Formats: sequence, structure tokens, C-alpha cells
Amino acid sequence: MRFYIKTFGCQMNERDSEKVEAILEENGWQKSDDPKTADLLIVNSCAVREKAENKIYSEIGRLRFKNRKAKIVAMGCVAQFAYDRLSKVADIVIGTNTIDEFCRIAKDYSVEGVFIKDKMEEPDHIFPHVKSVVSFVDIMYGCDNFCTYCIVPYTRGREISRKKEAIIDEIKELVDNGTKEVVLLGQNVNSYGKSLGYNFVDLLYEVNKIEGLKRIRFTTSHPKDFSKELIYAIRDLDKLCEHVHLPFQAGSNRILKLMRRKYTIEEYLEKVFLLKSEVKNCSITTDIIVGFPTETENDFEKTLEVVKTVEYDTSFSFKYSPRRFTKAAEMEGQIEEDKKLKRLNILQQLQAEITQKKLKEYEGKIVEVLIEGKSKKGDKLYGRNRQNIVVNVDFRDNIKAGDCLRVKITKALKHSLIGEPI
Ligand code: 5AD
Ligand code: SF4
Repeated sequence: MRFYIKTFGCQMNERDSEKVEAILEENGWQKSDDPKTADLLIVNSCAVREKAENKIYSEIGRLRFKNRKAKIVAMGCVAQFAYDRLSKVADIVIGTNTIDEFCRIAKDYSVEGVFIKDKMEEPDHIFPHVKSVVSFVDIMYGCDNFCTYCIVPYTRGREISRKKEAIIDEIKELVDNGTKEVVLLGQNVNSYGKSLGYNFVDLLYEVNKIEGLKRIRFTTSHPKDFSKELIYAIRDLDKLCEHVHLPFQAGSNRILKLMRRKYTIEEYLEKVFLLKSEVKNCSITTDIIVGFPTETENDFEKTLEVVKTVEYDTSFSFKYSPRRFTKAAEMEGQIEEDKKLKRLNILQQLQAEITQKKLKEYEGKIVEVLIEGKSKKGDKLYGRNRQNIVVNVDFRDNIKAGDCLRVKITKALKHSLIGEPI
């Protein structure tokens, strides 16, 4: 039996799709890139913006048209709340807390229906992985922050941390199977472990001890919980990579308050300055929303100021999208679409210039690259440096996925680097 899977959204969704893939493959299923020849067509959905939400419906329509015989599974964040509507177009609907249902589906092709639970019942369960040099590892599920624009607390539920032992066991098993780098995942990793009596930095120290593991990354951080101790850990732990994704969302304190982010931009910048001074060559990336309700030109200018001050290596910027269940969707002063787009274009142009300048700075420098595999075009090998920037190198007989090389950067492209192993 064959399955096809299409994934939208963040790394948590990518990891969930990987769980599904590994469960099905353990049960003798084969992955297919062609929906026409598959028996199960799976769409893993994202709800963070309206455009992403709508994609699940168009994708299901497209797949149905291509293959009328296969069963369709709708899963992920949209499935968690729109299960009624989805049950009319999909044969199986699986929410964010019921991925283990795939164990049944894998064995019994007649299973159909809607499987939704409000809560993750066994957060310490270790789901299987697909063999890979870089592996995502969930350390917590859900989010308790309720930023006023964000649907995530409603699609992924309340924050719940996995026990340290489960995480360590999972990583050790991964390393035994060839993983060299782990990316620890959570909506707000800095508040990891609060309910269990330990903290994220303790976990990092434990993970750093695992033999055979070469690199540790984590995402995503919330600035309000981003601590000095974490900055020192990035400075001191040899495996912890010099890259922090620290979403600031908006540069105006008035907007940050309306977003319920619980920090001021001055507090945010203070943490960034400490990070920059303690950790040499640390790359910093961020998320930004433009056109939040009531955002003025002056507020937007403040966002641009932050981008100029911090000089992010990359940023992910979005037009504010009103989401169901959220406070901001009900706020007065919604901004017109064309104004949002204008601001987004200005911001992205500024970021492109900064990204280019930062990438150029790598030319002639030597960096450590962990090779992950063949590049998309298939003509080179690709990997990442410790700052999470993609580096392409020419094929050589003695280089394979999992090798950690010293590479001299010869050229900066728009979003990546080219180099020669030395
Ligand atoms: N509109 C636009 N962007 C959003 N994000 C989250 N919710 C919304 C929304 N309603 C962005 C934030 C977050 C990233 C994952 O998605 O910047 O950090
Ligand atoms: Fe959403 Fe805020 Fe939680 Fe991030 S921290 S997932 S933006 S509610």
C-alpha cells in the first residue's frame, strides 16, 4: 500500500508528518510522490493565517480530482477545529492530539471517521522517526501565552512539557540511528519544564552530554522567557549552535501591549545586545507581523528601526491575518489589505538588503558544515553552518551525509552560501 503526504506550516507540523510517515512505513506502507498511485492521501494543515487555512480545502479538492479511489486524511491544526466541515470532504479527520490513530489506520484500511481530542494524553510517548542526519524532537506541546493574534493555543491546546527522560531516550535512539543534529521543538521552549520542576537550560546541559550527537538547535523562543542563563548556555555548550530565533513581532510598545506579548521593545533589545556580546558570530532571526489592528505609520517605523538595529540574518514577516477565536480579530481599527501589503514590501526589501550584506560577510571565511544530503537541483551537496545558513558544496567521492566539514565560503547567493571543503 502507498501513501502520499502534503505538509503545510511550521516545524511542529513537519515533525507530525514525519511521525505519520514513520508509523506507516513501520507497517509496510510505501511513501509515494505521486498522488495518482497512492491509496492514502494525507494533508497536514496549518491555521496560523487565513491563506494557509484555505489551502487544506483547495489541496483536498485537487487530490480528489487526481485520484477518486484513494482515501483522504485531513490532519493538523485546521482539522482540530474545522473537523465538521472537513469530514464532508475527507474520509478521515485527525486532530493535533490524535496522531497515534495512524497506528490503527496503518493496519486496517477500513478505518474511517473523525478523531479529535482536546488534550495530548501521553506527551511522553516516543513516536518513531524516519532516519535522518537532522531530526526534530518535540520537547513540549501547546502554548499558554494567548498572544491576541494567535490561533495556536486553540489548535494545539495548553502547554505541556515532556519528561526529560523521554526526550533524552528519544535523542539517544536517534543518535544510534545516525542523527547528528537535533532541533528541539516547542511553541515556547524557554518555558519548558516549569510544571515539572526543571528548566530548559537544565535540559540543554543534559542533551549536550549525549555522545555521538554533534549539534543542538531549538525553536521557538519567546522573548519574555529568554533568560541570561540561556545566553550563557549558548556561549558555553559546545554542541549548542550559535543561532537564535527570537520573534519580536512589532517595534511599538503600544502594539506589543495590544498583542499581549508581555515585553517592551527595550527589554527585547537588551536581551539581544547581551546575546550579541556574549556569543560570537551568533545569528539572530525573527518573526514580524505588519498591519496589526490600529498600527500607524509611526508604529510601523518603529518595527523598521528594530530591524535596522538588530540586523537580523533573516526574518519571516507576515501581514496580520484575523483568526477565529482570537481577541485581535474583534479589535477596532483593522488595517486595509493594501496598506498591509505596502508595509510588508518595505520591510521585506529592507531585510533582503541586510540578509545580502550579512551573507557577503561570509565570503572568504571558514565555517563548519554538517552535510545533510543532495541539494534540490541534485547537482551539489548541501548542509548548514552552525548559524543555520544553507551551504552548498561540490560532490566529492569521500563526502557523505552526516559528515561535518570545514568549508571555505567562495560565494554568497540570495539566501545561501557556496563553499569548498578544505
Ligand atoms: N497573522 C499574521 N501572522 C501571524 N503569526 C501568528 N499568527 C498570525 C496572524 N494572525 C505569525 C507570527 C508567529 C509566526 C509563526 O506566525 O509572527 O511568530
Ligand atoms: Fe502563538 Fe504567542 Fe504561543 Fe507563539 S507564543 S504560539 S505567537 S500564542
